[in-house]
Amino acid sequence: MTRAEAPGKAILLGEHAVVYGRPAIAVPVTQLRACATVTDAPAGQGIIIHAEDLGSSHHFGTPIDSADPAFALEATVRHTLDWMGSQLPLDLTLTICSTVPIARGLGSGAAVATALVRALAQHLGHSPTATEVSDLVYQTEILHHGTPSGIDNTVIAFEQPVYFVKGRSLETLRAGKPLWLVIGDTGIASPTKVAVRDVRRAWRREPGRYEAWFDRIGAIADAARKALATGDIPLLGRLMDENQELLENIDVSSKELDALIGAARSAGALGSKLCGAGRGGNMIALVSPTSVQDVADAVRGAGAVNVIVTELEESPHSADSETPRAPPVRDSAQC
Ligand code: MEV
Repeated sequence: MTRAEAPGKAILLGEHAVVYGRPAIAVPVTQLRACATVTDAPAGQGIIIHAEDLGSSHHFGTPIDSADPAFALEATVRHTLDWMGSQLPLDLTLTICSTVPIARGLGSGAAVATALVRALAQHLGHSPTATEVSDLVYQTEILHHGTPSGIDNTVIAFEQPVYFVKGRSLETLRAGKPLWLVIGDTGIASPTKVAVRDVRRAWRREPGRYEAWFDRIGAIADAARKALATGDIPLLGRLMDENQELLENIDVSSKELDALIGAARSAGALGSKLCGAGRGGNMIALVSPTSVQDVADAVRGAGAVNVIVTELEESPHSADSETPRAPPVRDSAQC
């Protein structure tokens, strides 16, 4: 058996504008994990994909509706087999499980696809680089999101904070000081595809206004990159608040998100905003080590169905370089 994992992700700054070529910053969320296992199956079985959390089981190659969640899993397997030049028939059982909530802005689709690519490739004797994994998962992201920027597959495949600009080479980021983040879930599923489509429609109607907002979001992400490197955490918090105002302008916040964000700020967060596509899903708050508990309690008290506290450690390596670290692939741990 071969088993691989991948984390969730949170966008610190720059969502939506990143689809239009502006920079964004994202971090892995290691408390959330997707996992995939691959085992050899009896001859003649073919490839079966079990998605435990969805209660679904799909026989690779049999007809499937594009709305079925197994559609993206099958496509991920197909792209990975094509990339390896593997010949069918193969007899394999693939099992997927994940603690990354679906359609909540934390990268569930990309995390599951990353774990699947890693496990399948490793099982068949290949060791893709993080860039290769990310490129394969991007193809699945197109099925999930239509016009993805590529930030989710990148931060998840590299498992490091990234400063991302679509079409440019990746820059992994160093945090000058540890960051404490509280992530609160509104409990409302919000497919990224829908929010991204609605923003595109609005951008087509009013390109001048939207381009100006995207420029401001991009400038905030640039300023945040410097604040992160120098460890200016209060400035990073203020930039998150400014980013949230612009996300409200482009109409991707919601009253539930606003309630959790307001509660986090009142309880002492340094900054807070929605996280991901918006309209529902999760919010994120930057906190000091002394306010973590108060902010987490306040977000929960304001209606969050789940709260995660995550720490981004001060990183020792230097910025401004692509770091194609090999992703972790494990053989035997449990999900
Ligand atoms: C989704 O995690 C982030 C968005 O900016 C979409 C994308 O970048 O593809 C909303």
